[in-house]
Amino acid sequence: MADKPLRSAKSYGKLDRDGFIHRSWIKGTGLPDHVFDGRPIIGICNTWSELVTCQFHLRDLAEYVKRGVWEAGGVPIEFPAMSLPETQMRPTAMLFRNLLAMEVEESIRANPIDGVVLLGGCDKTTPGQLMGAASVDLPTMVVSSGPMLNGKFQGKDIGSGTDVWRFSEQVRAGEMSLKDFLSAEAGMSRSHGTCNTMGTASTIASLIEALGVSLPNNAALPGVDSRRKTLAHLTGMRIVELVKQDVRLSQILTREAFENAILMHAAIGGSTNAVVHLIALAGRVGLELTLDDFDRIGREAPLLVNLMPSGKYLMEDFCYAGGVPAVMNVLGERLRRDVMTVSGHTQGEIADAAQVWNSEVIGTPEAPIGPSSGVWVLRGNLAPRGAIIKPSAATPELLTHKGRAVVFENIEDYHARIDDPDLEVDETSILVLKGCGPKGYPGMPEVGNMALPPKLLHKGVRDMVRISDARMSGTAYGTVILHVAPEAEAGGPLALVRNGDEIVVDGPNRSLELLVDDAELQRRREDWEATREPSKFTRGWYKLYIDTVLQADQGADLEFLVGKSSSEVTRESH
Ligand code: FES
Repeated sequence: MADKPLRSAKSYGKLDRDGFIHRSWIKGTGLPDHVFDGRPIIGICNTWSELVTCQFHLRDLAEYVKRGVWEAGGVPIEFPAMSLPETQMRPTAMLFRNLLAMEVEESIRANPIDGVVLLGGCDKTTPGQLMGAASVDLPTMVVSSGPMLNGKFQGKDIGSGTDVWRFSEQVRAGEMSLKDFLSAEAGMSRSHGTCNTMGTASTIASLIEALGVSLPNNAALPGVDSRRKTLAHLTGMRIVELVKQDVRLSQILTREAFENAILMHAAIGGSTNAVVHLIALAGRVGLELTLDDFDRIGREAPLLVNLMPSGKYLMEDFCYAGGVPAVMNVLGERLRRDVMTVSGHTQGEIADAAQVWNSEVIGTPEAPIGPSSGVWVLRGNLAPRGAIIKPSAATPELLTHKGRAVVFENIEDYHARIDDPDLEVDETSILVLKGCGPKGYPGMPEVGNMALPPKLLHKGVRDMVRISDARMSGTAYGTVILHVAPEAEAGGPLALVRNGDEIVVDGPNRSLELLVDDAELQRRREDWEATREPSKFTRGWYKLYIDTVLQADQGADLEFLVGKSSSEVTRESH
């Protein structure tokens, strides 16, 4: 048992009126007297929901965590947290990531819990849960939902999201029937679990392993694989040990752990969304992670994983090929090997115990899947604080490009004009979308991978340079420059771009320039300020979010949530 008295003892260990109240109202759930003898109380924070298949099976999985907790001598207590079903929420699930983080933080801190297991899976759930838990800093572990089985359609594998984008472009180009398009739906999502591509959910689950906050193989075991239940059971056992040893989350989430996560992000060709989530998470433990860390550390790793959207295979294949531990094995000395994980083993030990079983899915040091493939960070007068692009998902020839802007002032403007046959656009144009950053829309929606104009699709064009302050789905692809900071809504230079302006993208040299002189930009800024309208969102969460959200380069957390906090319920911690 830890030398320090358990946190829960302050509530359950007292033989007075307060102890009576705490114990009595939880004994009513069916807990007997003898479990209040000083055993660790393990909270199981569950984002279970019927609103999406990604988290549908988490109630079932929680039962296996509980088995493990009981077996190790702890007391499991499950509690709910807001579910964020990515494909269902409007205006965007990202608007609510920080709300989930606040809910999880306050739920853990306010209750007599000694350690916590987070159950989540869909894109924003795990980042939100982990951010909240990091601000409380108790012993913490993650069990992810696990990916869906491979999608199937007309005898072929199809990937979540990635093939939706492909099929819908084919329908718009007249190459696929609507009947076929609709019949692909059920085959794409045919089991419980998260998207089966290396989209945001699978990326985050992989980074969770690289950060060391889950047991090995958490990312790739399919949601319906019996071994995920075993992993949940073992997690339940392990969290009790972490409480006894008082291993806090901040001892796991070190600078080197984040560097391993950035390396893994590059090696798996991970979702661009992970950039904002990792920066926000680091902020919760008092670490400053920057966009430049991603560009610099990401260059150390080649692309090692051949999964959609950058490659060919799906998460089920990744699991059978060895998953994240096998990638760490291939990373070799690039991995920060001495970093300790919640498993009690270092990342180096985990990597040494792993092996690649299919080198078509996970490349080798001698034959990687592709060159360095982290994100590139572009800067210039169009993005003074940075913008990102995922080169492995882009058309190589377009990574260096000069073209004239076709500007959409907001998403409504885009929808109103993109299908117009008279839209003045050709394949050399650059589509520019404003008003979709954190404060815009609001919530920084995944609309950066704008569908192309039909008149170009019919000519066979399948990619163009697109620039916005939005995010894009981790399952999407294309030459898409995202997260422009500052965003247009916050007065960034993106707000000043006009139709016909020339823009130069120089990916290899990391620059993004608007070829408009400073005097003209100043005139446009004065116009913009004079015609700016106040926000329409004047109440509730939307208002708090818009008033306090940070820009994408700072992780889009709320400004007053950044920095270390603690598990103490004191005036100082609030
Ligand atoms: Fe939930 Fe993709 S929609 S993980």
